[in-house]
Amino acid sequence: MSNIGSYEKRIRNFSWDTAGEILNWKEGELLNIGDICSDRICRMGKGEKPALIWEGFGDRSSTYTFNDLKAYSNGFARFLTEQGIEPGDRVCIFMDKIPSLYFSFLGILKMGGIAQPLFSAFGDESLEVRLAGAGTKAILTTGKHVRKVRKIRDRLPQLKKVIVVEGNPDKLKEGEIFFDVEEAPRIDEFEVYRSGPETPSVLHFTSGTTGQPKGALHVHNSIWGQALTTSWVLDLRDDDVYWCTADPGWVTGTSYGIIGPWSLGATQCVLDSGFTSNRWYKFIQDNRITVWYSAPTAIRALMKDGDEVVGSYDLSSLRHLASVGEPLNPEAVIWSGEVFGGLRFHDTFWQTETGAMMISNYPGMEIKPGSMGKPFPGIEAAVLDLATHEPIEEPGKVGLIAFRPGWPSMFRQYWKKPDIYRSKFVGAAEDAMPEDLRQDRNLWYVSGDRASIDADGYFWFVGRDDDVINTGGHLVGPFEIESALVEHEAIAEAAAVGKPDEVNMEVVKAFVTLKPGYEPSDELELDIMNFIRKRLSPLAMPQEIEYRDKLPKTRSGKIVRRYLKAIEWGEDVGDLSTLSDE
Ligand code: PRX
Repeated sequence: MSNIGSYEKRIRNFSWDTAGEILNWKEGELLNIGDICSDRICRMGKGEKPALIWEGFGDRSSTYTFNDLKAYSNGFARFLTEQGIEPGDRVCIFMDKIPSLYFSFLGILKMGGIAQPLFSAFGDESLEVRLAGAGTKAILTTGKHVRKVRKIRDRLPQLKKVIVVEGNPDKLKEGEIFFDVEEAPRIDEFEVYRSGPETPSVLHFTSGTTGQPKGALHVHNSIWGQALTTSWVLDLRDDDVYWCTADPGWVTGTSYGIIGPWSLGATQCVLDSGFTSNRWYKFIQDNRITVWYSAPTAIRALMKDGDEVVGSYDLSSLRHLASVGEPLNPEAVIWSGEVFGGLRFHDTFWQTETGAMMISNYPGMEIKPGSMGKPFPGIEAAVLDLATHEPIEEPGKVGLIAFRPGWPSMFRQYWKKPDIYRSKFVGAAEDAMPEDLRQDRNLWYVSGDRASIDADGYFWFVGRDDDVINTGGHLVGPFEIESALVEHEAIAEAAAVGKPDEVNMEVVKAFVTLKPGYEPSDELELDIMNFIRKRLSPLAMPQEIEYRDKLPKTRSGKIVRRYLKAIEWGEDVGDLSTLSDE
C-alpha cells in the first residue's frame, strides 16, 4: 500500500494538517526547517541513521548521520552568527554538490538567515545580477569558484563576507575567510532561531521572459507542502534510500533534495560528478537506491545510451520513479517501464514559485503516458481561457495553467518586485499587496504554461505561454542572454530563442546583427559562445548563432522573438502586420 492510498479519498478528506501529523509537529512548537530536518530527527531517536550518502568525482565518498547533519549545520549557524550575519540576511550558497552545501543550507535557516542557493556553473555576470538583486550579505563558496566572486566583489557593496568552505586556505585573498565545518570544533548544541510559519527561508532566482531574473521568496511554512508531497507523491518511507538528481541551485534540489526527504527523516544520496549512464546506474546499484526523482533530459540521455547498459547493473532495489522539469515524453515513460522492471516514471509538474508539486501522477493511479497527472489534494487547479481568463470546462481545450492561491509552499513575493508578483494573479486589484494576493481564493495564480485537461481530469502540458527557454529542465531567460550578447564587441543587436533539441528539449539559439567592421565567421561564433558560457553559464550558451542583416521588429522598434521562434519550430509565424518593413 502506498502512503497516499486512494487519491480520491485523500481529495475528499483533505486537510493540510495531515502534514503536521506526518511531521509529528504540535501546535506551538518551533517551526524552523533547519531544526525540523536535523535536530528534530535526532530528538526522535534517529540520530545514528544515515542522512546523507555522498559521492564525488573519482573515489571520494562519505556518509553522514542525522547527528552529523545536526552538528555540521549547527557549525555553520554558529559561524555565521559570529560573523555578524543576522536573521533576514541573504546568504548565498555557491558551490558544487559537496556536503557543505547541504550543511550550510540548514545552518543558514537555523540562524534565521535566508538561504540563496545559486548554481555553481553560473559565470560572474549571472552571479552578480542575482547577488545585487537580493542585496546578499554573505556568500559561501569554495576555492574552485571564488574567482568568480572576486571579479565582481567591488561592485557589490552590500556583500560583506566572502567565506570559502573548501580548498586551500593559503590561496585566499585579503578580505576572504576560510571555514571548513568538518575541521572546526563540532557544535552539538545551537539555539535555533525562533522562526514562525511566515519567516522567510529560501530565495530562488528564476528567469522570466522580460527583465532580469526575479527572486522567488519562500517561508518556513513551505515545509508543510514539501513534506506532504514527498510522502504522497514520492512515497518516501523510513527504510527508503532516496536519490534526487537535481542541484540545489534550482528549486527541485532544495524542495526535494533537502527539505522534503529530511523532514521525513529519510536517507538520501547525492552524486556530485558529471553525468554518464554507467556512473548513474552504478550509483543506484551500489547504494541500493529505492526511490529516484529525476528529469526528462536525463531519462532521454539514459534511453539514448541503450538498454544494454541498463542490463549490466543490478537495479532491483528501485521501487518508485518520478520526474520533473520539462515535458516527459510518452516514449520515456514506456521505456522506463520496460527496462526498470515495470517501473514507470511518474511525471510531476510544479515551479520555483509553487515551491512544491502541484500536478502529479500518484502511486497506484493509472498513468497516461504524456500526461502530468492530476492536481495534488488540496490544490485547486484549472486551465483558463487564453482570452477571457475564465476556467475552461471543455475537455481538451488549451488554456493557461492556474492555481487558487493559498497553498503552504507558495512563494510569498518576488524579492522587491511587488508589481511583477501582482501581475501573476488574474483578478488582482491594482493596489493589492503580496500578503493579500497569496491567500485570496477569488484570484488565480497563473503559472505561465499552457495545458489542457481531459475528460478524466488529467492535465496535458502543451508549452510555455512566454519566451522563456527550458533547456534540460532549466529555465533560461532570453533577456539575460540578449543583454550579455550585446556586451560582446562585435554584436549590435541580438535575439535569443529556444530551438528544438532531441535530448535537452530546447537549446539556446541566438540571432545577431554585427557592428560595422565585423564579418561573420566560425571563429567569431566560437568566441561569442564562449563569451556567454563564461559570463552566464553553459546552459545559456547559444548552441547556434545565426547572423542576420537585420532582426524582425515591431514598428516601435521592439525585436519580435515570437517570429524567430516560430520559424525555428516550423510553426505558423502568425500575424505579421505589426512588423516594421525597415
Ligand atoms: O514550464 C514548466 C516547466 O518548468 C517550469 C518551472 O521551472 P522552474 O521554476 O525552474 O522549476 C523547475 C522544477 C520544479 C514550468 O513553468 N515544467 C516543470 N515541470 C514540468 C514542466 N513542463 C512540463 N512538464 C512538467 N512536468
